[in-house]
Amino acid sequence: MRPFLSALWLCTAAFALVLAEGSDAEISFEYHRYEELRKALVSVWLQCPTITRIYTIGESFEGRELLVLEMSDNPGTHEAGEPEFKYIANMHGNEAVGRELLIYLAQYLCNQYQQGNETVIDLIHSTRIHLMPSMNPDGFEKAASQPGEIKDWFVGRSNAQGVDLNRNFPDLDRIVYINEREGGANNHLLQNMKKAVDENSKGHFYLTTNLTSFGARVCAVGYGGRSLRSTHEYSASPDDVIFKSLARAYSIYNPVMSDPHRPPCRKNDDDSSFKEGITNGGAWYSVPGGMQDFNYLSSNCFEITLELSCDKFPNEDTLKSYWEQNRNSLISYIEQVHRGVKGFVRDLQGNPVSNATISVEGIDHDITTAKDGDFWRLLAPGNYKVAASAPGYLTVIKKVAVPYSPATRVDFELESLMERKEEEREELMDWWKMMSETLNF
Ligand SMILES: *[C@@H]1O[C@H](CO)[C@@H](O)[C@H](O)[C@H]1NC(C)=O
Ligand SMILES: *[C@@H]1O[C@H](CO)[C@@H](O)[C@H](O)[C@H]1NC(C)=O
Ligand SMILES: *[C@@H]1O[C@H](CO)[C@@H](O)[C@H](O)[C@H]1NC(C)=O
Repeated sequence: MRPFLSALWLCTAAFALVLAEGSDAEISFEYHRYEELRKALVSVWLQCPTITRIYTIGESFEGRELLVLEMSDNPGTHEAGEPEFKYIANMHGNEAVGRELLIYLAQYLCNQYQQGNETVIDLIHSTRIHLMPSMNPDGFEKAASQPGEIKDWFVGRSNAQGVDLNRNFPDLDRIVYINEREGGANNHLLQNMKKAVDENSKGHFYLTTNLTSFGARVCAVGYGGRSLRSTHEYSASPDDVIFKSLARAYSIYNPVMSDPHRPPCRKNDDDSSFKEGITNGGAWYSVPGGMQDFNYLSSNCFEITLELSCDKFPNEDTLKSYWEQNRNSLISYIEQVHRGVKGFVRDLQGNPVSNATISVEGIDHDITTAKDGDFWRLLAPGNYKVAASAPGYLTVIKKVAVPYSPATRVDFELESLMERKEEEREELMDWWKMMSETLNF
């Protein structure tokens, strides 16, 4: 064990020396095939071992690992009260820009952390960040191994089993739509469903994003595919305001996305539904069973889709400019997880109440508390009534003023109905005792 450890030490020291020279200089602006992707993540881990961890959420059909790099001051554990964030890219194997951006982001955050950048240190200390550069490594290998510069759009879109991952999440919109019509619940549908992506996000993810490149540089907001409604109808989710605000937090730092005069990717595209680089998912392009709706409807997760490039597989020499356009946006977007209300739900004895429901008046989408009773509810600025409830407890409602950021801390103490009954019984007994003494019977 010892020689291995000291080898690590040497590595780290060597890296640190080089790094002092500059931040972007250390990023390798090139495409990473599967083996190179692995190596890139491992070198980030070697360089920043105290704040990173690599884990896998499974294997692809052809046996490649679905790797995730976690960055946190306490990698490997959910800390009570600390929000979690994830970026997922390369869902379609032939969409390469997001995949590369996440590798560069990992390298950048690690470099900046080591150089003592306060913004980055604060972010990593207050957030558990998960970066998944490739959800579809098989598809990427297929697309990347085509000869020549111009990669065919549709080669590599699906994974090795011929399944398009973004179309293959259960179509929750359909169920929500039916429930809306028939008065059923619209949150936490299919709570127990086991899906590769959801697996690792049990209860903990508060904000997540799928980076893709599909024909346009925009942020799509909110419900992606309202499949039972007409494709171009504007589909406002109950959290429309915060979704828009999240997308804006990304696009505002991206000069290309927020340029009102940006030409559409393909000549005849109708870009009229994009305002300041943001569109509503349903108005633009309907995707039944996309992951964004799956996350929003089935979990505590809020998700937007970021469409990063017109070209799915742009020339390698343009990757650096994609990074420059997106760097501040990528970081600003992670910071969004620190908005809204946060806090703990406990009983009167101070024990955490997990799986308690947090609901906001006027927004028909509840979230639940995690294991330590902690919760994060992303909200746009405003005044809200927030309720915490759990079976067997009296519901508590609080008025909360939410600024743009940071999140407002609100804790709830729930009295159990058993305790309440016990109190009431005692009161009743006292009353009887008093009455019987007074009336003397
Ligand atoms: C620290 O990181 C932030 C976020 O990326 C960046 O905006 C800022 O310029 C960096 N500061 C320095 C001194 O490099
Ligand atoms: C994910 O990526 C695809 C790729 O174009 C996109 O259409 C879709 O809406 C994205 N959203 C999710 C998260 O499903
Ligand atoms: C969480 O609470 C909901 C409703 O209160 C319940 O249906 C569900 O089974 C609970 N889940 C767990 C994991 O306890």
